[in-house]
Amino acid sequence: MCGIVGYIGSKQAYPIIINGLKRLEYRGYDSAGIALYDGTDIQLAKTKGKVADLEERVAQEISKKGTLGIGHTRWATHGVPNDVNSHPHFSNSGDLVLIHNGIIENYASLKIELINRGYTFKSDTDTEVLVNLIEEIKKQENVKLGKAVQIALNQVVGAYAIALFDRKKPDEIVVAKLGSPLAIGIGNNEFFVASDASPFIEYTNNAIYLEDEEMAILRLGREIRVRKIKDDTLVNPNIQKLKLSLEQIEKGGYDHFMLKEIFEQPSVIKDTYRGRLLANQGIIKLGGLEDYIPRFTNANRIVIIACGTSWHAGLVAEYIFEEWTRIPVEVEYASEFRYRNPIITEKDVVIAISQSGETADTLAAIKLAKEKGAFVYGICNVVGSTISRETHSGTYTHAGPEIGVASTKAFTTQITVLTMMALKIGKVKGTISQTDYMMHLRELEMIPTHVAEALKSNDKIEEIAAVFKNATNFLYLGRGVNFPVALEGALKLKEISYIHAEGYPAAEMKHGPIALIDEQMPVVVIAVNSNHYGKVVSNIEEIKARSGKIIAVVTEGDTEVRALADYVMEVPKTPETLTPLVTTIPLQLLSYHIAVMLDKNVDQPRNLAKSVTVE
Ligand code: M6R
Repeated sequence: MCGIVGYIGSKQAYPIIINGLKRLEYRGYDSAGIALYDGTDIQLAKTKGKVADLEERVAQEISKKGTLGIGHTRWATHGVPNDVNSHPHFSNSGDLVLIHNGIIENYASLKIELINRGYTFKSDTDTEVLVNLIEEIKKQENVKLGKAVQIALNQVVGAYAIALFDRKKPDEIVVAKLGSPLAIGIGNNEFFVASDASPFIEYTNNAIYLEDEEMAILRLGREIRVRKIKDDTLVNPNIQKLKLSLEQIEKGGYDHFMLKEIFEQPSVIKDTYRGRLLANQGIIKLGGLEDYIPRFTNANRIVIIACGTSWHAGLVAEYIFEEWTRIPVEVEYASEFRYRNPIITEKDVVIAISQSGETADTLAAIKLAKEKGAFVYGICNVVGSTISRETHSGTYTHAGPEIGVASTKAFTTQITVLTMMALKIGKVKGTISQTDYMMHLRELEMIPTHVAEALKSNDKIEEIAAVFKNATNFLYLGRGVNFPVALEGALKLKEISYIHAEGYPAAEMKHGPIALIDEQMPVVVIAVNSNHYGKVVSNIEEIKARSGKIIAVVTEGDTEVRALADYVMEVPKTPETLTPLVTTIPLQLLSYHIAVMLDKNVDQPRNLAKSVTVE
């Protein structure tokens, strides 16, 4: 986690770094700091709190001048969030200054060695150990900064994306990466460094994404040099043309990124299937899938690995893949899968789902599945992300940058990709009828219109949110393909409003959670047209008999549930398998409005970060 930004060139570094840190706050926001070289010395300011707090600190403490600098926004791993533990960190001599995203696992033993050599430490961080280790090696081996970094990183166990510079040689920044992302923007005799490309998108669209175990020296007046950390060999860097625009990473008139992203869903779902779903011709064409269809049709089973919201999308996929492809599917938390010696063979296909493409647990699970011989297919949103590069093939969701920490459009676009995959594989395998196939193609094409329709209930949902905003617990119930939507609805509420919420398969309620129900308990029930409709109605009756408050998601025109429920949120009619794409919408809006009414930080909920690059 954590966001890092750096700049070296002829522009003033401060505004580039501060704006860049604001764009990276989704990665962590418990403290922030900046180091600027003002022409003679390094100016350092850092503080507990957000980037806005850092701006105030800078205004009081340091000059903003300088054309070289590095900045950091933190999600604490080692050491509580406070001023001292914030990055950047100086080496003992005050010459080197470093920012770090990741964890140095063997920092404790390295620290003891350094203390024995006379080093002292101000913070509790692993990062301060690393910068001093580099300094010690530079001194002992009498080598340049780049070489010292390379030697030091070979002694380090863990994950890192780092950027550092030496006040005695202020014409270069050294960067390196293992496990955490690092993008380098290349301008006209200037370089940008960041955890993703958003901090430098208005300055250049030429970027290099460092691979794991690579480092680079960004020196003014010289071409970029990328080397392997292990053996110092030179690498030919792949300079990519970025397609990201500034508009995509701004709020566009909405109060919060989360709301913007919820409302973007009709257009981004269309972007997800654009050029891939040709309903009239009965064609689904997914570039990454075409050559690998036999891997799926001959697979013993599909194992889906993911975390959080992406895991919920995987659960939705379990229903639709089994329905249309008749291939057994298992859905695993990546964090559990990676540590339990799973039985995976060459006949298994693993699908890894990740919005960010950087989630550490998912990445480790992918590596394990590959070692065991499985074919691994990735579904990612962030183009060029580590997971998209680590998988054998895959499909991008094309949802555009998702900045709100609570995932919304990533979920619906992941389901859109998974639906297209299941339809395509089922068609080739002959396990879905032609009529069903064609009907679902046409209906999938209608989903953006249905989502836009569902969004029209926003005001009504805001009123419902006002009624329940002070509840301390919520239960979310759904059946079949809408059970994962219930889990997702509960997760959204928990993470942004800090209200306890649980998702359950509606029929499981009577095996325990029903004991929780009384007149204080709001129960959100997904009760749309489906094979389970009658059963869900019975579940609603059971809640009502115990005085629970029912907020139901129903299909337009529903009368039966409407008569039972305290409040209803309508969604357009769509085939059962596609309902998660519409039933999710009111649940996203409900959690959003409750969080706003409770005055919570919707886009940056406490303790969370957008991209979980630590275990
Ligand atoms: O980037 P990923 O999809 O791999 O992230 C997985 C989870 O960390 C993520 O979905 C998290 O649960 C979100 N905060 C949910 O809103």
